[in-house]
Amino acid sequence: MCYMNECRIGKWGNNLLLCIALCSLWACGGGGNSGTTANSNTSANVQASGSTLYQKHCQECHQPLATSTKRNKTAAEIQAAITTNMGGMGGLAKLSASEIQSIADALKTTTEIPTFDGNKSTAFQLNGAAVLNNNSIRLTPNEKNTAGSAFLTSPFTLSSNFVFNAYFNFTLGAGGRSDRHADGFVFTLQTVSNKEGGTGGNLGFGGISPSLGVEFDTFKNYGNNDPDGDHVALVMNGSVAHTPASPPVATDLHFSDGGTYYVWIDYDGTTMEVRLNSGNDRSTATLLLSRAIELKSIFPTQDVYFGFTGATGNDTQTHDIGAFYLTSNYRSGGFSPTP
Ligand code: HEC
Repeated sequence: MCYMNECRIGKWGNNLLLCIALCSLWACGGGGNSGTTANSNTSANVQASGSTLYQKHCQECHQPLATSTKRNKTAAEIQAAITTNMGGMGGLAKLSASEIQSIADALKTTTEIPTFDGNKSTAFQLNGAAVLNNNSIRLTPNEKNTAGSAFLTSPFTLSSNFVFNAYFNFTLGAGGRSDRHADGFVFTLQTVSNKEGGTGGNLGFGGISPSLGVEFDTFKNYGNNDPDGDHVALVMNGSVAHTPASPPVATDLHFSDGGTYYVWIDYDGTTMEVRLNSGNDRSTATLLLSRAIELKSIFPTQDVYFGFTGATGNDTQTHDIGAFYLTSNYRSGGFSPTP
């Protein structure tokens, strides 16, 4: 298998372009899951997603999901409406309990996953090298040339202007040498499927399109115009290369030291803001970037898979994602969860 990470190491010398060409020939980072390294915790996703079921059975009477008059209704409330044939809903008695539950999940405007333990483990589809580990998702082990991803099992339906608040924390374990660690991870929004990523290079984000990501990159790849050291940037459509239009931010960032870091990503329909702190306090967090972006022009649907991709190369580290919170009920102050 080919990893884009190989392109940065001496082996390819000055033949970087050749390497990139070869990598794309070999379908490097083409997304999808080979399945060979999938973890046993990976949840099956055979049932149609809640948003698809809603579209089929509820939309004609209650508006499209994003503007549904039944947002945040519980499975019990939906079941009661069916049982009592409210508004002629009795015909939906054919829906199974788990189908009603996934419709109720799709109607939720907030997802809160304080830890990834036990009963929460099916919230994310794990791909490639990703596993559940000590209340975290471990995107990659501390091994060379691995990639993993985790996406919400069911897509999260945003409203028509795509506003959201997200919050998570991460811990990047030290690699073999304290000054050498790689490659980082990407907080990713995409509309393709919950099985994207987890193979190839480019932080496991390679080839996922359409997508928008916030990368937490820990290695200087010359071919991507990376600045020195740990850096953060908005990345798009499966490419982690930087352009003048979306430059990376790297001002004394040191998040690869084994400590836990907290991230707030807020989108008000116009501007995406990314904040980072070594403590769980948004009010003292550093505003790393604030960038105008139009999500509704990137994605063909409001059903978005939120998740994370990560990878290692010749240098390694573990990539652990802790708590995760997401809402489509945008508030300007963002999330302030107490752990
Ligand atoms: C044929 C039209 C129709 C379809 C299809 C339909 N409903 Fe309803 N539903 C109604 C009407 C009419 C009411 C009563 C008025 C109201 O509450 O909107 C109702 C009431 C409800 C209620 C109880 C009232 C409340 O707000 O708590 C819930 C919950 C509900 N529907 C959810 C759903 C869900 C979820 C689906 C899809 C699985 C669905 N409905 C499909 C017409 C429909």
